[in-house]
This record gives sequence, structure tokens and C-alpha cells, in this order.
Amino acid sequence: MSSRRIPKVDPRNQRGGIAMTQLAILGGSKTINTKGPHFVWPRITEAVEQVVIRQLHATISIYDRSGVIEEFETTFASYHGRRYALLSNSGTSAIYSMYEGLGLGPGDEVICPTYTFFATVSPLMHTGATPVFCDCGPDGNISVAEIEKRITPRTKAVVVTHMWGVPCDMEAIVSICRRHNLRLLEDCSHAHGAKVNGKLVGTFGDAAAWSLQAQKTITGGEGGIMLTDNEEVYYRALLQGRYNKRCKQEIPVDHPLAIFSTTGFGLKFRAHPLAVAIAHEQLSHLEEWLAQRQSYAEKMTAAFSQFPFLKTPQVSGKRAGWYAYVMQFDASHSNGISVDLFTKAVLAEGLVELDRPRSTMPLHRLPLFTEPEKALPRLYPHPVKQKQQSFPAADYFYENALKLPVWSFPDEEDMVNLYIEGIVKVALVIRDNPELLLAIETNK
Ligand SMILES: Cc1ncc(COP(=O)(O)O)c(C=O)c1O
Repeated sequence: MSSRRIPKVDPRNQRGGIAMTQLAILGGSKTINTKGPHFVWPRITEAVEQVVIRQLHATISIYDRSGVIEEFETTFASYHGRRYALLSNSGTSAIYSMYEGLGLGPGDEVICPTYTFFATVSPLMHTGATPVFCDCGPDGNISVAEIEKRITPRTKAVVVTHMWGVPCDMEAIVSICRRHNLRLLEDCSHAHGAKVNGKLVGTFGDAAAWSLQAQKTITGGEGGIMLTDNEEVYYRALLQGRYNKRCKQEIPVDHPLAIFSTTGFGLKFRAHPLAVAIAHEQLSHLEEWLAQRQSYAEKMTAAFSQFPFLKTPQVSGKRAGWYAYVMQFDASHSNGISVDLFTKAVLAEGLVELDRPRSTMPLHRLPLFTEPEKALPRLYPHPVKQKQQSFPAADYFYENALKLPVWSFPDEEDMVNLYIEGIVKVALVIRDNPELLLAIETNK
């Protein structure tokens, strides 16, 4: 039997004169009693409904660069100060278009983060190029020092992901790529509107891609977009996933690739106009949402950083996109409490949105990347070497990541406060009365 006694009231556990109540996992009352979800994204407002209805009656398929496709691409490109924008039906296909844009193929090596969502790298497996994984730094982003160690004469490019919305160390990465004459690609799917020293992510490299899938900051439900300043990258990307009208409209007839304009390269990645209409409406709110997220994230950091076992996201000199608020649980400072038990105790408080991200996992653990010869033997006739390598920082980040949503609207403040309250309630017991929780483990 686990201990059910009321925790001793410690004066340090007082908030505004009210003693902390017993943890729900120990029989106390929950912090939140309403059933989830407590975080709903995107918010379907009347304005969203209206743009969908308007688009529905305008057209639901756009063959060339016109209408809402042109409007969104123009707005997105000019917001980033980039020359070309190319919408597609998913972030995955936008990333694939970046790789195809660079013309990567068998024999080429691309330095990739191992800690990312797999779609940063899975499209590369359809080019035949070899992903070369890199460990991460303490913030979960690709480690700059590790990139340099992995460069070989075959390295053609580096791809980075701004994990959970916290930008990578772009100035250092740009400098490595310049020094070694490597192309640089950014997966900005977590980081719409994020900045490094005032410069937007997605503007540092040769091309960048964003997912516009339902969870993303700017979303059409499904969708993706790629940006580049490079005409050749753009034409190749265009031909890879579009054909006929749009290619004929944009690729000059005297360009060597114009002969493919009727058919493209064989695939179709066109975006759906209804999705783009939604995303276009969302885009007009980006700055206001990021400001609100920043203020909620600061509030969370102020509350959580007093606990040495909660490592809060560090974003100095950067503006995060706050796709999520991802902390690390540091079990070396948690008085014997494991991340599993912490998670159980927080969930028991009714904080159902706390998540330990599982599918965003180190890629060196996934067979598509370690054994591609079994899935795609025509492109990978020989086993790859990644298997033997270890990536301790990425494994650690993955095992200890605790993810919370970052709410975006002023009317969600009460929910943010309840999440802070529930986590602080559990954290105080870990700090001051860990034996109460440890009893659960020992009496299992
Ligand atoms: C970092 C990252 N890259 C790529 C993708 C793929 O985007 P999509 O689901 O739109 O294909 C995602 C989607 O979750 C992502 O998080």
C-alpha cells in the first residue's frame, strides 16, 4: 500500500498563505477537474469559417500560381524576404522538394540532426543520399561542434530543425557551411516566426521548409511550404511536385529544364486551396500569437526554474516560435523521483496535456535510417554505417523531455495558471517531501 498520509505543511510550501494540498496521486484532490483537451489548436473562428466558405465558392483546385496560392506564397515570401515560395500538400513533401531542389543523390552525404521529427530526414531517403547523424546540444538542437566532426569530402549539405520552436545556433552553423562550401537547409516546422538576433529562421540557408499541418503554428490542417532565393533550386522543386500550367507559367522556355514542364518529374504535391485559405487567415495572427506565447512561456519558466530538476528552455538572443514548451527532467537533482513517477503524478493532477514526446525520437533508433537496404534496396543496395554510433545527448534529451502546450490566447490564462499550479504542486513535494512519492515506488 502506498502512503496516504497528509504531507507535513512546510512553510516553504505556502503560496499566498494557503498550504499546498495533498497530491492527487496520494489521494488528494486534483488541480484540474475538467476533462481534456485543455489545449485546442487551431481555433476555428468565424473568420476562418468565412475564408473557407469564400474559397469553396471560388475554386477548390488551382493549377497555376494564382488565387489564394499566389496570395499565401507572396505574403509568406515577403514576410521572410525570400524570392521564391512553393506551397505543397504537406511539410514532408516541402522538405522532399528542398532535397530535390539541391539535386542530391546516391553518394552524397547530408549532415542531419538525430533528434528531430523523422520527416526532416525521411524524404532524403527517396533521393538515395546518405543521412549522417549528429548529436544534439543541451537544448535538443543539432550540436554545432558535432557538425564539424562529421564533414567528409562527400558531404554536400547540412539540414537543421529548430526543435520545438527554439532556433538553432544559426550564425555558427552558417559559418561552418560557408567555410566548407556546404548547402544549408532548415526545417522550420516547429518555428514559424522564430528569430535569431532579429533574423527570421528560414532565411539562413539555401532553402527552408515549414509544415502547415494541424498542430503547427500556421496551419491549413495539412500543407507545407518551401522558400528559397535560388532560381535553380526553385525550378527543380517546382518540377518535382507540379506539372503543366504552373511549370509553364514560371519556367522560362529557354531554360534547360523547361522540356519537363508538361509532366514535371512525375509527382504531384499541389496544395489544397481550402487548406491554404485557412493558413492565410492564420498567418495574419502570427505576431500576436507569438507575443502571447512568449508571455505564457516566461510565466512557466519563472515558476518552474526554481526546481533544479526542471531544466526550462533557454532562448537568450532568440525569439522562439513556442510550438511547445519542452523541459528536461534532471533525475540527478530530483531526490530519487523518476521522470516516470513525476509524469504520473502530474497526470493524476488532471494535467492531461503533459506529454513525453515519443514519435519525435532519435532517428538513429529507426530502421528506415539504419536499415534502408531492407526498405529501399534500389536506392540503398548496401547497409549504412550509422548503426554502430551512439548519440548520448539525443538519447538523454528524448528520455527526459516533458512537453507542455504553449497557449496562444489571452482568454487561456486561467488554464495556463492551473497547469503551472499543478506542476508546482508536484515539484514542491519532490523538493520538500520526496518520501511521500517514493513510497509509491517502494510499495508497488
Ligand atoms: C520537424 C518536423 N518536420 C517535418 C514535419 C512533417 O510535416 P507534415 O506532417 O506536414 O508532413 C513535421 C510534422 O510534424 C515536423 O514536426
